[in-house]
Formats: sequence, C-alpha cells, structure tokens
Amino acid sequence: AEQAEATSRVVRQPASDADQRAWAAARAIGQQALSSGTVAVITVAGGQGTRLGFEHPKGMFPIGPVSQRTLFQIFAEQILARRRRHQADLPWCIMTSDATHEETIAFFQQQNFFGLSPDSIHFFQQGSLPAMDAATGQLLLAAPGQLALSPDGHGGLVTALAKAGLLTLLQAKGVQHLYYHQVDNPTAIVADPALLGFHIQQQSQATTCVVCKTSPTERMGVLVDLQGRTEIIEYSELTAEQAARRNDSGQWIFWAGNTAIHVFDRQFLESLCETGNQLPLHIARKQVPCVDEYGQPLPADPSGQPNAIKLERFIFDALPLAARTLIVEGNREREFNPVKNKSGSDSAETCRAALSRIARDWLQGAGQPVGPDDIFELSPLQALDAEELSENLQRGVFSPEQLLRG
Ligand code: UD1
Repeated sequence: AEQAEATSRVVRQPASDADQRAWAAARAIGQQALSSGTVAVITVAGGQGTRLGFEHPKGMFPIGPVSQRTLFQIFAEQILARRRRHQADLPWCIMTSDATHEETIAFFQQQNFFGLSPDSIHFFQQGSLPAMDAATGQLLLAAPGQLALSPDGHGGLVTALAKAGLLTLLQAKGVQHLYYHQVDNPTAIVADPALLGFHIQQQSQATTCVVCKTSPTERMGVLVDLQGRTEIIEYSELTAEQAARRNDSGQWIFWAGNTAIHVFDRQFLESLCETGNQLPLHIARKQVPCVDEYGQPLPADPSGQPNAIKLERFIFDALPLAARTLIVEGNREREFNPVKNKSGSDSAETCRAALSRIARDWLQGAGQPVGPDDIFELSPLQALDAEELSENLQRGVFSPEQLLRG
C-alpha cells in the first residue's frame, strides 16, 4: 500500500460527445461478441453471507421491492432477456461451495430453472480450506476426526472451473470472454455489452469495472497502480489512515472501488491453470463453530474476538499476472447496489430502494407519470434498459398498468 499510486488508466464514464461515440462503439463490439456466441457469464455464489445473517445461499435472498423476486431470479431473467436480444447461447456458470451447492441446485430445480434450459446452466463447486485456531494456529475440528472447512475464496474459481471441465467445454462452444460478477449485486448489468466491448477492443485479458468510493472507509477493494501493474488492494488490508491518503494533486489515491464485476479472457484463465499459478492466500479472522477432540463444542470468546483464522484466495490477485488489463468506470447509481449487511449501508433496504429508483427513472424517461416516493419493480424480461422500456411501452408489448407497483 505504501508504494501504490492512484490508478490512472481508466476509461471514465462518458462526459463529452466524443466519449459518447467511444462508448457506443464499444457497445457495438460487445453486442457483436454476444450475438456471435463468444461470451459466457460466471456468477460467484459460494460465500456464506454471514454478514447478512441469512441462513441460505445468498442468491435465494428475496430482493424485488414489490414481488420479492430473489437475486438468482433477477440474474436468470437478465440472462434470458440477453439470450433473446442477441439470439445467443450465453452459457451461465454458477460457482457454489460446500456450504451452498445442494441448496442452490434444489432451488433452481424447484423454480424450473426460471425458464432457462437446465443444460445451459453449469453449477460447479469451489474447494475448501481448513480453519485454524487464531491463538494457537492448530487446525480446528467441526466434529471429532473432521476438520472445520470453509470455502477457499472466489480465487478458487480457476481451479474449480478447470476441475469441472468447464474451461474445455466453454472452449468447445467457442466462448472467449467471461463476464464475472458477484451474487450480491442485482443491478450488475449481466454481460454488459459496453464493458465487454472495451475489453475486446483493447485486447485486455482482465478488465475491472470500478466506481468512485463514497468515503475512504467504504468496504470496497481499490484498484491501484503498483510498479506499473494494476492491482487490487482489499479494504481489510488498508489502515484507515492509508485509505484516506491523497496524492500531491489532492486526489484520493484509493478512489477506484472494485465493483467485483470483471471480464476475463478464457485463455488467460487457462494459462493460470497450466502454469500451476496458485493465487496467494489471504487471512481473515472469523468466528467458526468448532469442537474439541471429544466432540464438546468450544465456547466462544467472551470478549467477542473471532476464534479462527480462515484462508481465502481472491480472484482479483490474477490481475497483476495478466499481460494487459483494463479499468472501466461504471455508473455507480445504476450498476452498484449490493446487498451485504442486515441494516444500514448495502442492506436489503438500500438495494430495494435502488431497484425501485432505477425503474422509476426509466419510466420517467418513457414519459410515464411517476411520483418521487412511488415504488416500482421491473423484470429484466420487461426491459433490460431505459430504451427497451420506452420501446416496449410504445409498441404496446405491455401496458403501464401491468407494471409492478408497491
Ligand atoms: C467484495 C470484494 C471487494 C469489493 C466488494 C464489492 C472480496 C474479497 N472483496 O467484498 O473488493 O469491493 O466485494 O461489492 O471479494 N464468494 C464465493 N466464494 C467464497 C467467498 C466469496 O463465491 O469463498 C462470493 C460471495 O458469494 C459473494 C462474493 O464472492 O458473491 C463477495 O464475497 P464477500 O466476502 O462478501 O466480499 P466483500 O467483503 O463484500
């Protein structure tokens, strides 16, 4: 962190006519890639969602502001709508873990795969790593003779994709570009043509969508330049003092927040497997239930100190290994509204409000009367963007009365 510099090579949000033309050109390239079938989607959904306090895979969390549709349903509908729009296969790979695998698959079956063909969705499971006692460094037990294991972090993606045979399968399908996103942000523009387009145009191997952090303490990893390379430093690895640092021109060094939306080149991920390049391990101090050798539960620390050290790999540690990377600034209000916490910032409440606000903005743009406090919900199947909503209302594909209102 001491040598990091503010990242400078960023495609910023369009501000001028020339920028608008550049974004339109990128969008056209992305659309072309989508309709030629060279894109697949990866959703990482192996985390345990401890902060949210939800006892199921996070993708099952009800988030629609009116309908309570789940995170998984919103992504499924986005994918279905994109497949229709671009007449493309757009395979969907969903990474689960020991903690989420079976329940996730059962949920998709119960929901009839949300209208997608089951063979176009590829569930694959990430690995696990043992947790250690934070005081002694000894391995913790979940039961006598059984280690306490936790998911190995989304950096387990590369090995897990290869192990499931998916890198080969995607290659056989002619897929070159992998759009990657986290299960916690329903406003991610899945398979975003503009992001894909910039990635392809600039021959990037690993592209990241960033937004300006709202404050130095916001819990987002940050994109920086470190000795000429692009890297992400995770928020947990910066002190408060470091996070607030400015450079000589008064700019925050750590401004570029990682939305965890990336595009990876398939061959780049393959090369990581081939060279046996294991991503580094990071340490997180967490509470992990465990027992002694006789099976007696060990009491939690009365001071609330986490009892365990968990080890995780982060997918973004692949960035400095890429020959060419790219950073593109997203539109924060539109694209980055995750649900992470029980209350306060990044909670179900803020996320639902964002989904409703986006729908309201699009409706207003389509000339519909809307009040500032009205609650709306659009399905991605009704419209993927403001233009499509306008068109569909004009053509009478559905009427304003058919929209969901709170
Ligand atoms: C994450 C990013 C952070 C970024 C922020 C944006 C990490 C380490 N940090 O923070 O840089 O700014 O999102 O919202 O990711 N997951 C798995 N398997 C695992 C662990 C996590 O699939 O073993 C998935 C989760 O299901 C979730 C995502 O990864 O979709 C994020 O994990 P989480 O640990 O919640 O990261 P954040 O602290 O929110």
